Amino acid sequence: MSFVVAIDGPAGTGKGTVTKIVAEKLNLVNVDTGAMYRSVTLKALENNIQPTETEKKKKMLQDISIELKDNNGVKQVLLDGKDVTEKIRTPKIDQNVSKFAQIAIVREKMTPLQRKMGETQNIIMEGRDIGTAVFPDADVKIYLDATSEERAKRRYKQNLEKGIKCTYEEVLKSIEERNKIDTTRKIAPLKKAEDAIYVDTTNLSIDEVVEKVCDIIVSKMGE
Ligand code: DC
Repeated sequence: MSFVVAIDGPAGTGKGTVTKIVAEKLNLVNVDTGAMYRSVTLKALENNIQPTETEKKKKMLQDISIELKDNNGVKQVLLDGKDVTEKIRTPKIDQNVSKFAQIAIVREKMTPLQRKMGETQNIIMEGRDIGTAVFPDADVKIYLDATSEERAKRRYKQNLEKGIKCTYEEVLKSIEERNKIDTTRKIAPLKKAEDAIYVDTTNLSIDEVVEKVCDIIVSKMGE
């Protein structure tokens, strides 16, 4: 039996960064499920498929291939064999991803792929519905949170570092809109699993969050 750590929470809580560091420290395979929904969105946009076009979406999903690779600690996302690591992180994908992630056939395709990844390896998987829907029996469940202002501040800083032009107000609006769709959708909405441990990261540094998360996991590993 493999060991599964589920990390959920909204955008900008440091989930991605924290999960990556914790995975390296504790020798767990890091799975970023948001990258999978982002890849679906990129493919749809590149093929001019609207969220409402069911038949086109079905066809697109039939033969989609998404691979999450780790090249010596550098995460790489391959969509149909092509490297889309950078392309899935643009504001355009940010603005559209929640619309595609709320669609039943999209989630029905992604969820089994995610479960498969936890069958044979010890994983730390981050997303929105990992502790509630993908792995309701995960060994450890953690819910990371922060105020929307703090989350927007962090995402704004990340964008500037990557050379993406934007204003703080735009990022805050986009983050709040995305969160609204993610928390209110019908299927597998973002919410804290009842048995998840809640960590408020608003006033914590990345190192402090890493330490907290590691402590929680290590104590569960020892049980
Ligand atoms: O973690 P992220 O910001 O890269 O995720 C992008 C979007 O994908 C997020 O707004 C909602 C969706 N998502 C989801 O619905 N379920 C997941 N397990 C992960 C992400």
